[in-house]
Amino acid sequence: MSHKIAVIGGDGIGPEVTAEAIKVLRAAGVDLDTTDYDLGGARYLRDGEILSDETLEELRAFDGILLGAVGTPDVPPGVIERGLLLKMRFELDLYVNQRPFVGTAPGASAPHDFVVIRENTEGPYTGEGGVLRQGTPHEVATQGSVNTRLGVERCIRYAFELAQSRPRRHLTLVHKTNVLLFAGGLWQRTFDEVAEEFPDVDTAYNHVDAAAIYFVQDPHRYDVIVTDNLFGDILTDLGGAVSGGIGLASSANLNPARTGPSMFEPVHGSAPDIVGTGRANPVAAILSAALMLDFLGEEQAAARIRAASAEPVTGSTTDVGDSIASRVRN
Ligand code: IPM
Ligand code: MN
Repeated sequence: MSHKIAVIGGDGIGPEVTAEAIKVLRAAGVDLDTTDYDLGGARYLRDGEILSDETLEELRAFDGILLGAVGTPDVPPGVIERGLLLKMRFELDLYVNQRPFVGTAPGASAPHDFVVIRENTEGPYTGEGGVLRQGTPHEVATQGSVNTRLGVERCIRYAFELAQSRPRRHLTLVHKTNVLLFAGGLWQRTFDEVAEEFPDVDTAYNHVDAAAIYFVQDPHRYDVIVTDNLFGDILTDLGGAVSGGIGLASSANLNPARTGPSMFEPVHGSAPDIVGTGRANPVAAILSAALMLDFLGEEQAAARIRAASAEPVTGSTTDVGDSIASRVRN
């Protein structure tokens, strides 16, 4: 069966790493029908398009979306992030951001293997708030965190189901319930209630500041983590840093209800400083594409790609893509 995939290479190293990911998917024998979308900061500077409603409607017809990276230093912060990436997450209801981490932390002797489930459509990312008297000594800025029972529960439920499917069956809620009483209270109560439906999953709770220590000093304690959007953003950069580097960190923006396509992208950004040098590591994009295969029911090809990517690779961006492609072909 052919999968209809929209490809948004984006800016900077995005197109370079995405090309390697597609090369590897094809080498794994996956039948893809790809359509390229020229979107990102460079496109915006050319003709003003960020992500129009028409383009968004077109994207809804695909089975999946592969994204490289978006953002260029020539566009002010927030324009492309909110107008393209977050618009896709919100409008396509990609309410789970799944970020797996397998690697050996600096100073550790054995690899860890954990997954962060980051809520992806709420929290401080909704854009709630505003500014008054901007630029004056009396400026007021508020930036709220929006948490709904529905949004929190569907994310927590997904995390429990994932934990139940893994050998350790362990789920940790990460929040800041000692300070953020309203949002934390909703998260903790929802977590405790859903936990009753999963008696075979062991649970734990960490404050986010403590979790930052454990990520570095004791990542083995984790199996699946579920957390708020902004905590998850910050912790998953740290997760990348302790799992072999951000060049290996993959992510899946999922709509588990499957009311539209899900979107798959490396955790890293567009890295404008290394564009065209051949130094971009395509492994994060390749592993993100493997997450897409899992979601599309091509688990065997995904497992082969993960195994091929776990072996050491060296060389330029295309060398690494070629080596992994030849391993999955064999
Ligand atoms: C990520 C990124 C995005 C986020 C930015 C680019 C908006 O950092 O996917 O982790 O904050 O979610
Ligand atoms: Mn981030």
